Amino acid sequence: RLWPVILSGGSGTRLWPLSRAFHPKQFLPVLTDLAMIQETALRLSDPQRFAPPLLIANDDHRFMVSEKMLEIGIDPLAIILEPIGKGTAPAAIMAALRIAQEDENGLILLAPSDHSITDPDAFQRAIETAIPAAENGQIITFGITASHPETGYGYIEAGQKITGQDGVYHVENFHEKPDLTGAKHYLEQGNFFWNSGIFLFRCDSIIQAFETFAPEILSACKAALEQAEVDLGFERPNSEAFQKSPADSIDCAIMEKADNIAVVPVDMGWSDLGSWAAMWNEGSKDDQGNSLKGDVLTLDTKNSLVRADGPFVATIGVEDLVIVTTKDAVLVAHKDRSEEVKAIVDRLKAAK
Ligand code: GDD
Ligand code: MG
Repeated sequence: RLWPVILSGGSGTRLWPLSRAFHPKQFLPVLTDLAMIQETALRLSDPQRFAPPLLIANDDHRFMVSEKMLEIGIDPLAIILEPIGKGTAPAAIMAALRIAQEDENGLILLAPSDHSITDPDAFQRAIETAIPAAENGQIITFGITASHPETGYGYIEAGQKITGQDGVYHVENFHEKPDLTGAKHYLEQGNFFWNSGIFLFRCDSIIQAFETFAPEILSACKAALEQAEVDLGFERPNSEAFQKSPADSIDCAIMEKADNIAVVPVDMGWSDLGSWAAMWNEGSKDDQGNSLKGDVLTLDTKNSLVRADGPFVATIGVEDLVIVTTKDAVLVAHKDRSEEVKAIVDRLKAAK
C-alpha cells in the first residue's frame, strides 16, 4: 500500500477575492461541489491501493482540514500542524519522517491539496508505472504534457528512458517558473514537462536525499517531530525546533540537486488552477466562451469568467474579463492580467 501525504499550505492569494488567508483554495469548491482537498483525498482513497492519508497543514486551518475529511468519511492517519509555513521541503520531510515511524521503507505519494485532475484513471495508471522505479530507489515526479507556454509552472527536462522501466525517464534538469520566452522555447522541445508537484518515493530514499542536500532542514524537522505534541489526531511538531529549519521548496532543495530523479510523463487533465485565467481555461464554457458560475446574466459577452458568490452580476458587450463577486468584495480584471490579483492582496495586507 502507498502512503498518501497531502500538502495543504497554500495561503490563498491568487484567486482573490474567492480565496482568503483563512479560506485558501484547497478548502473551496472550485470546479466541482467538493472542496479541492476533498477531491484530492478521495482520489487517493482506494483501500486496495492506499493507506489513510497524512495531511500537513497550517495550525490556523486545523479545524477546516479535519471537518473536510470528516464530511467525506476519511479518517486520516494524522494531521500534522505547522506553526508557520516554511515551504514544501520541510513539510515533505516532516511527513516522510512521520510515515517512517509506520513503515520505514514505505512508498509515499506526495500530492498538493489544490490541483484539479480531470482524468483520474490516467493518474492511477501513471502511479502504477512509477511504483517499480520508486521501489528501486528513484524519486519519481509526475510530468504533465504541456499544452501552452505557461509561466506559472516549473518545467522538467526529461532525458533517456530508464532501461527496463517502461514510461520512466531520467530527469536532466529542473527549470523553475520561466519567463514567457523560456516557456515558449521549452514547449517546442518535446521533452519538457510541467512539474505537477506530485511525487512518489520510498521513505528512506527521500530521507537520504535530505541528508545529502538539505541536512539542516532534516535535522530541524527531525528534532521538531521528536518533540511533537499529539492531541485529538493533531500532531504539533515543536515550534522552536521547527523555526530553525531553513525555508525551501522540495523542488529547489532536492529535485534540482539529486541525481536519482526520474519522471513519469502523464496526460491527465491536470491544472494547478493558480489564477482566474487558468480557471477559465479549465472550466466548462457556454457557446460564447464564457465560464459562468452562480447568479449571473450575460448579454453579448465573450470569453469571460463571471462568478457570483455574492451579489448577482449582469454584463453587456464586454469580452476577456474576469468578474468575481463575494459577500464583501468585487473583482473586475482583464483576463490576461488576472495573475496580478496578488498585487491587490499585497496592497490590502500592507494597508492593514
Ligand atoms: N504543508 C505545507 N506547508 N504545504 C505547503 C507549503 C508549506 O509551507 N508551501 C506550499 N505548500 C503546498 C501548497 O498548498 C500547494 O498545494 C503546494 O504545496 C505547492 O505550493 P505552491 O505555493 O502552490 O507552489 P507553486 O504553485 O507556486 O509552484 C509549485 O507547484 C507548481 C505546480 O502546481 C512548483 O513545484 C512548480 O514547479 C510547479 O509547477
Ligand atoms: Mg500551486
